[in-house]
Amino acid sequence: MNGIEMLRDLQREVTEWRRYLHEHPELDYQEHNTAKFVTDKLASFGINHIETGIAETGIVALIQGEGGDGPTIGLRADMDALPIIEASNKPWSSKNPGIMHACGHDGHTAMLLGAAKYLASTRNFKGCVALIFQPAEEPEFPTGGLRMVQEGIMDRFSISQVFGMHNRPGIEIGKFGIRHGAIMGSQDDFDIVVKGRGGHAAHPHRTIDPVVIGAQIIIGLQTLVSRKTDPMETLVISVTKLNAAQAYNVIPDCVTIAGTVRAHSSGLRDFAEREILAVAQGIARGFGADIEFKYCRNVPVTVNHPEETNLAIKAARSLVEAESVNDKMRPSMGAEDFAYMLEARPGAFIFLGNGPTAECHSPAYDFNDEALPYGIGYWVNLVDTVLGA
Ligand code: NI
Repeated sequence: MNGIEMLRDLQREVTEWRRYLHEHPELDYQEHNTAKFVTDKLASFGINHIETGIAETGIVALIQGEGGDGPTIGLRADMDALPIIEASNKPWSSKNPGIMHACGHDGHTAMLLGAAKYLASTRNFKGCVALIFQPAEEPEFPTGGLRMVQEGIMDRFSISQVFGMHNRPGIEIGKFGIRHGAIMGSQDDFDIVVKGRGGHAAHPHRTIDPVVIGAQIIIGLQTLVSRKTDPMETLVISVTKLNAAQAYNVIPDCVTIAGTVRAHSSGLRDFAEREILAVAQGIARGFGADIEFKYCRNVPVTVNHPEETNLAIKAARSLVEAESVNDKMRPSMGAEDFAYMLEARPGAFIFLGNGPTAECHSPAYDFNDEALPYGIGYWVNLVDTVLGA
């Protein structure tokens, strides 16, 4: 097994890469400079099987082990930044105005490159490692992870298991968090158009007022979680958009209501879709109106698979003390598009401590370079754990 000391040498070099990537952030599906940086580095490590242009700017590179035949496992990093004006005040702050690596994907990319350099020089494993550098983790549907799966990377590269990692502010440096089963939520969005009959606001009795009906629907939706789901299960239904008339004296024909649904099971997504429609339609019809309803399933639940989660825990515990790996961390309701890869293949997603930094997606956030050797070491030890001779 590889101790953290062996990776300290790599840390200085990977820190330079990380800060370069931080200075040059790119938005989803536009990671051309980032992809070129990654490709050039991989080639310089002597990795010669590199496929680019997957899902526009995504990359898959293969490192063949020298320990004989074995399966291919996928290690995934994300490369995209966010449309945020940086306020970290770091010397390596973004040089691309209005774009910022505010989620640490610069660190994720740099760590997988660091692991690639190490693994390409040792090749002390059986089978093959597929390095997956994906674009566009952050945007709305369709995300880069989904598109890479749709473009067939799992079959084309014979990937049998897949692993992901994300930094987490608030977890100490050198510590990890993971759990079996659902670790991140699904993300679905819904739109409701309440169709009444508009008119003059002074004569409401001649209208079917969709504003009042819409208000009832919003209240009605609040009872789905509190009254119709098992209190031990996790579901969030948030109404986030509301649009009615543009004047004081007009009752509009229509009101639009929209929001988001987060869940930890696909059954609850089915429930939410069915019940939001039933409540909205029932209330609207009770008042003589009707609705149009659209429910869009975006990112699925990120579900860790049993065997691979055990492998991930074992790999992390071969790097740091057992108690530094929390294998029962609290799940999050945030969504993560690695979920698509976990639907395609068994695997596991782990969190890496980023220390007491600003939260992800904050303008003050910065990836913590002290976490780099732990992330690199996790990847290296994971390969040893899964593919060790
Ligand atoms: Ni992220």
